Amino acid sequence: MELNVRVKGIAPSLTLAIDAKAKGMAAAGEKVCGFGAGEPDFDTPEHIKEAAAKALKEGKTKYAPNDGVMELRIAVAEKLAQENKLSYKPEQVLVSNGAKHSLYNIFMAMCNDGDEVIIPSPYWLSYPEMVRMAGGKPVFVRGHEANGLKILPDQLEAAITPRTRALILNSPSNPTGMVYTRAELKALAEVAVRRGLYIVSDEIYERMVYDGVEAVSVGALSPEIFKQTITVNGFSKPYAMTGWRLGYYAGPMEIVKAGSALQSHSTSAPNTFAQYGAIAALRGPQDCVRRMVEAFDQRRQYLHKRLVSIPGVTCVKPAGAFYVFPNIASFGVASIRFAELLLEKEKMAVVPGLPFGADENIRLSYACAMSNIEEGMTRLERFVAAM
Ligand SMILES: Cc1ncc(COP(=O)(O)O)c(C=O)c1O
Repeated sequence: MELNVRVKGIAPSLTLAIDAKAKGMAAAGEKVCGFGAGEPDFDTPEHIKEAAAKALKEGKTKYAPNDGVMELRIAVAEKLAQENKLSYKPEQVLVSNGAKHSLYNIFMAMCNDGDEVIIPSPYWLSYPEMVRMAGGKPVFVRGHEANGLKILPDQLEAAITPRTRALILNSPSNPTGMVYTRAELKALAEVAVRRGLYIVSDEIYERMVYDGVEAVSVGALSPEIFKQTITVNGFSKPYAMTGWRLGYYAGPMEIVKAGSALQSHSTSAPNTFAQYGAIAALRGPQDCVRRMVEAFDQRRQYLHKRLVSIPGVTCVKPAGAFYVFPNIASFGVASIRFAELLLEKEKMAVVPGLPFGADENIRLSYACAMSNIEEGMTRLERFVAAM
């Protein structure tokens, strides 16, 4: 059967594939050291689960309004105002099935065939595929190691053409863990605004920042920037709610309305009773988040120290998210082969850098137990020593 040309060219998510392979090996009784997971290893906090269970018991089991339960949209708008200094009306918030779905809605709403979207590289691997599915064209701008894997305003300026519609920013970043400073973000955003681009700001890792670094919402930097910014966030990472599938975006009314229409004919609103859990997440105590972030920080410090002590490995110290992105170029093996060999020889699962746009790197998630990290580093040392 002849498939749709846009869908035919799409690569399935390699992070999910590696994770599935490692989980399969573990299920077969092998002692796999997994670093692939893009999700917190903690359970969803109890008060959030209880709120969803209560909603379920109370019969909140019918279709929710397409754009999300109004109480949740109000809670999101309040959170964005208080924590991020972004003043959106609840009507400007569209709740979807995860931030991934929010991003998909945005690119579908925004792109015409051939429209260009600038993606700083290394990037989260779903961005280019989503842009392509929407008929757009991803344009990559490389963040060099010498600049902490960040892109510079001149590079952005040089990549803009009459077809450019948007710039994606993801700070803190998956896969690099880099975090733009306020001044760096402002300089990039000013270029985007001057050239009439939308800024799609994926802030899903905003809570995971370390060493006193702050995660800044780009839309809060000036009224002009705010007007052109679409802020994306979700519940998966901060509240360990990956399986709940809840995310949202807030932005200019035209993009919210278009995304809403699209959602109304595709998925409709996300799960109704899950949304009551999300309200509890935003309105309830936040010490659960702080505890998770403290644990991630300890692991980050340890993992980075061990990695850079391995001869031949270099690694920018991440200031956010829960990933490290070491450079393995000195071993002369491309990232996919490196990851395959590591899984084969040492039963250690990492994600190759290639689908993130960086074939000289591998990604390790430290959303896993400290004992896993200790054992993994011993395996990696042994593996590269034998290369
Ligand atoms: C950068 C980034 N954005 C968005 C998402 C999507 O998260 P979710 O759809 O679970 O809300 C992820 C998940 O891995 C991510 O890493």
